Parts: sequence; C-alpha cells; structure tokens
Amino acid sequence: MKDLKSKITLVTGDITKEESDAIVNAANSTLLGGGGVDGAIHRAAGPELLAECAGLGGCIPGEAKTTSAYKLPAKFVIHTVGPIWRGGSYNEEGTLANAYRNSLAEAVRVGAKTVAFPAISTGVYRFPADLAADIAVRTIILFLKQHNEIEEVRLVCFSNESTEHHRKALEKHLSL
Ligand code: APR
Repeated sequence: MKDLKSKITLVTGDITKEESDAIVNAANSTLLGGGGVDGAIHRAAGPELLAECAGLGGCIPGEAKTTSAYKLPAKFVIHTVGPIWRGGSYNEEGTLANAYRNSLAEAVRVGAKTVAFPAISTGVYRFPADLAADIAVRTIILFLKQHNEIEEVRLVCFSNESTEHHRKALEKHLSL
C-alpha cells in the first residue's frame, strides 16, 4: 500500500484544471452556484452542472452530494458546504471536518480514486485559514488510514499563503 505521505499532494493552482477523478466544490447550501471556487467550477463545467444541481434539493453544511463534471477534466464534482465562521463556538470546526470526511466518503461511494480539494470555507465563509488547513489535513489523514480505496488526495490551494498553511499542517500531522 502506498504510504500515507505519498497519497497526499499539495499544489498551488486552479482546481478547475485538475484531472483528478473528482474535484470538491466549496458550495453553499442551495447548491445553485455562487462566487469563489463555486463560481469557477460552474463556469468551467457549463450550464448542465447547474441543471443537475437544481435537482439535488440543496445540501446541509458538512454534508456532500456528487454530480457529473460535464466540461471539466474531472469525472465527478463533489459538492460540499463548509461552515460560515461565526467566531468558533458554533461547532464550525466539526462541520468543516464533516465536509472533508463526507466528501471523501462520497468519492469512495462513486469509485473516485483521486480527489482534489479546495481550501473549503477559507474564502467568503471567512474560516481562519491556518485552523482550516489543520482540520483538513487531520481529517484527510484519518480517513486515508481507514480507506485504501482512495489513492491520492490533492490539496489545490489558490494562493501561496494557503499553500503554506497546508504545508505546515502536513509537516505537523505527517511528521515530515
Ligand atoms: N481553484 C482553487 N481554489 C480556489 C479557486 C479555484 N479556481 N477559486 C477560489 N479558490 C479558493 C479561495 O481562495 C479559498 O481559499 O477556494 C477557497 C474557498 O473560498 P470560497 O470559494 O470563497 O468558498 P467558501 O469560503 O467555502 O465560501 C463558500 O462562497 O462562492 C460562494 O457559493 C459559495 O456561498 C458559497 C461560499
């Protein structure tokens, strides 16, 4: 079995260009599109994505729903809804961990072996980026320890600062 370290890849870039089996979208609970990475994914996938999302009945924060990827290079889009940061006493940390874990569970369910994540909730939803990176890495590592089906998780950061937060979190949790 590939060791854990080799299963997690950190990149700086645009998730709509990722060729992973699945890319994760940081959506809102309507699943009807928005700005940030949600907007980028819908623009790149084309209008059929919105049409499929419209039939899903929304998504509760921390849960995840999968659609096709249409014009994107990926096969699937896993839509998840991260928490809006409200100061930290509304279980935002737990909801963010659920979003990562349930997105990976969806990947296993649909047979996606490689999954690319954006830094969920760290944009419009204002979740502190360093804490979010730590939760993301910790949750992904725990899931990969329990699920061999996932061969690679790619953390696709949109800025050097976001990449650095995730690099530090990987160093801490993988004792690199
Ligand atoms: N590729 C990768 N990451 C991206 C991209 C992209 N093309 N575009 C933005 N990002 C990054 C942001 O820089 C941020 O680090 O994705 C992370 C998440 O930011 P948002 O997209 O703002 O998502 P989030 O904070 O979870 O807020 C979700 O914003 O776009 C709306 O409809 C969405 O209402 C929902 C809310």
